[in-house]
Amino acid sequence: MIIIKTKDEIEKMRKAGRLAAQLLKYIEPFVRAGVSTLYLNDLCEEFTQKHGAVSAPLHYHGFPKSICTSINNVVCHGIPSEKDILKDGDIVNIDVTVILNGYHGDTSKTFIVGDADEKTKNFVHRTENAMYRGINEIRPGRYLYEVGRAIEKYITKFGYSIVRDYGGHGIGRNFHEEPYVHHHFTLDDKIRLEEGMVFTVEPMINIGSSYEVITSKEDGWTVTTADGSLSAQFEHTVAVTAQGNEILTKI
Ligand code: MF3
Ligand code: CO
Ligand code: CO
Repeated sequence: MIIIKTKDEIEKMRKAGRLAAQLLKYIEPFVRAGVSTLYLNDLCEEFTQKHGAVSAPLHYHGFPKSICTSINNVVCHGIPSEKDILKDGDIVNIDVTVILNGYHGDTSKTFIVGDADEKTKNFVHRTENAMYRGINEIRPGRYLYEVGRAIEKYITKFGYSIVRDYGGHGIGRNFHEEPYVHHHFTLDDKIRLEEGMVFTVEPMINIGSSYEVITSKEDGWTVTTADGSLSAQFEHTVAVTAQGNEILTKI
């Protein structure tokens, strides 16, 4: 069942979304060669608390930290660690989710550490474009599968692949609610969009031709590409409005 949000609830989600966006902006200048992902985690936790919010990932199904930090071949759910030191040319996705006044705001971005080669930069920028292509399809009366269809149409021409094991999700009082949002075309997403639906669009794109991923047996969380290739991701929380859509996780 998809929970439809009232105008009042959307306003609360706008506030939570804005704080998540501010957090991602705040952390950006700290994302530099030589810093550990644990340091970034701790700064995010401090910022979130200072703004009267709670880090949603912390203890979520046992997740041990406040944010996810996914470097290079890590697809998602990377656990911040003092052992993971960013180096020049790395790409790192930072995924933040805050709970403010009971509502979640979820957003992520892949940062390039220092400078990377042209191939990597193009890949990261195209992953961001893919997210916006998907978001642009969102309006009342359309089917949810238009999101995945637009992303697939855009991304496959580069020879990249779209991760299938993880997707976007409805969001509100709960971190993850219905609907599940595929980032490729599937009739599983034959769901009519209605004003008041709120969900994330968060494509995980692998630079290689395989969408296969592996979950770490050691920590039970870290998801990596099966072929060891780079993976990038961007995420916004989006509301379906009367006119079209509104990205809630922007400043
Ligand atoms: N923020 C992630 C998402 O976009 C979920 C992280 S769950 C955690 O859905 F437990 F790993 F934090
Ligand atoms: Co999400
Ligand atoms: Co997220």
